[in-house]
Amino acid sequence: MKIAIDGPAASGKTSLGQALARQFNLRFVETGKMYRAVALAFDRGIKLSDIDIQVTRNGRFLLNGQDTTSELHTQEMDQKSSQVATLPDVRARMVELQRKIADRHDVVMEGRDIGTVVLPDADVKIFLSATAHERARRRIEQRRCGDLEQVEQELMVRDKRDSERAVAPLKPATDATIIETDQKPLKEVISEASNLVRDRLDDVVWAAENRD
Ligand code: DC
Repeated sequence: MKIAIDGPAASGKTSLGQALARQFNLRFVETGKMYRAVALAFDRGIKLSDIDIQVTRNGRFLLNGQDTTSELHTQEMDQKSSQVATLPDVRARMVELQRKIADRHDVVMEGRDIGTVVLPDADVKIFLSATAHERARRRIEQRRCGDLEQVEQELMVRDKRDSERAVAPLKPATDATIIETDQKPLKEVISEASNLVRDRLDDVVWAAENRD
């Protein structure tokens, strides 16, 4: 089972991904953290060819052997990760790593290009959407700091860069189910997504049972 979740920053991909991973016993992979780890590595003067990123079973991110998980989710890395994510050679390395993980495990993988580029044959593709205003409100609640207007502005800068880059821009796959989350409690989003996964599992079982 491969589940792809895409969507803009702070649209709820992580909360949904964690819930589905728990429910269906899948490995959860946050690909945004990989781009954040690359941005951190560049900050430390490490060249792309010398970067080694390992994702542990419990979701820790090791950069050249060092656990950097707690340093990835800063406001500075929000923007820097989005900048390094425009570089084709960075993307090529990350996509290779992401596909290797998906080859070895059943996964729920979240990012910007999972349904379009990384796992075009994913069993279920979900695209989460929400207004920048609502996403800014959630981000502030999650990080317990920040000014609403400034955070909203920064999200829009990132949305624009992530959606307008030449390689693998943020966009829903043509076969993705778009879930609009603005007016929806997380519980409802999880329930909608779980139903999609269950339907897909039913299809797979039915196809296996009716193979001649
Ligand atoms: O999901 P996130 O906010 O942690 O992602 C950080 C940045 O990484 C995001 O602004 C764009 C980039 N990214 C990407 O280009 N492709 C992905 N699959 C995941 C993230």
